[in-house]
Amino acid sequence: MKLMDIFGTLKKDMDFIERQLYRSVEGDEELLNETSLHLLKAGGKRLRPIFVLLGGKFGTYDLERLQYVAVPLELIHSASLVHDDVIDDAGTRRGKPTVKAKWDNKIAMYTGDYIYAKALMLATQLPDPEVHRILSKAMVQMSIGEMEQIRDFFNTGQSVRHYLLRIRRKTALLIAISCQLGAVAAGADARASSLLYRYGYNIGMAFQIRDDLLDLCGTEKSIGKPPGSDMRQGNITLPVIYTLQDPELSGPLLQAIEGIRGADGSEHISEAINIIKSGSGIAQAERLAETFTDKALAALDQLPESKARTHLKEIALFINKRSY
Ligand code: IPE
Ligand code: IPE
Ligand code: MG
Ligand code: MG
Ligand code: MG
Repeated sequence: MKLMDIFGTLKKDMDFIERQLYRSVEGDEELLNETSLHLLKAGGKRLRPIFVLLGGKFGTYDLERLQYVAVPLELIHSASLVHDDVIDDAGTRRGKPTVKAKWDNKIAMYTGDYIYAKALMLATQLPDPEVHRILSKAMVQMSIGEMEQIRDFFNTGQSVRHYLLRIRRKTALLIAISCQLGAVAAGADARASSLLYRYGYNIGMAFQIRDDLLDLCGTEKSIGKPPGSDMRQGNITLPVIYTLQDPELSGPLLQAIEGIRGADGSEHISEAINIIKSGSGIAQAERLAETFTDKALAALDQLPESKARTHLKEIALFINKRSY
């Protein structure tokens, strides 16, 4: 199932956003045009702009205005992925070579910076400092989240709470503000934008937990990159933390993780994944993702009934079951 199939009604507006997205990174520097478009044209779910447009339906929907939030949010997301692939040493994304793999880390660094700057330039088309403040605050939190992750690579002693704080920063806040800013830019009332924020935050938490599950259980074809990348990197995710709490499995898993740290850890990665799959860590993580989805749905229930609300519900259910 493709996300876009869920709602034909947004198609025309999303096509417009897509064109604006490509236009937004055009500039005088040939290489930067090429590297930025490389990632944008590789596809992606465009979840954040979709959330902006749906959030906008709770106020006075005006695509002309909403584009200045929708495009920047997808750009911020894209820039963070270019940098993320440097940190995660990732060779593939969306089934294509990453910017760092096709060019190099230095070029990826400036491609990310360039895309971030383009995001800010566009956002200032809306003369609303509150919007700028919310966007910049989320960018700061994302950087902190990614730094925390670097610090915690191979930290097998971390708690579930620690993990949740990290994914809140690196993923959930951007999704929360995507929902919120659509409503804010459309002049929706404060209660609607705060409920949308709550929906987005909880969906964002479920989204990253699912992403981490897919990294362990997905196939290269479905997720557009080799599974097990988090383990290889020493990124300790929720199913790993749960498995480490299992007295029978923690010993063997710790040993496998130690092996991954070694010179050629490849065989230890599949060993670790097999250990995780043999216990209840996957199911426990799935349950927590479901709890967050339920909280998101509860926030939605308090919003007035509308087509947009139904679409947000469908997206929540999609995320909870997603395979890409
Ligand atoms: C990937 O986000 C990074 C995370 C926050 C988990 P998406 O899964 O939304 O990436 P694309 O844009 O669809 O490729
Ligand atoms: C999300 O984490 C990345 C950001 C929020 C920048 P991941 O590192 O898990 O994302 P993928 O799996 O590479 O898309
Ligand atoms: Mg990462
Ligand atoms: Mg990554
Ligand atoms: Mg991931």
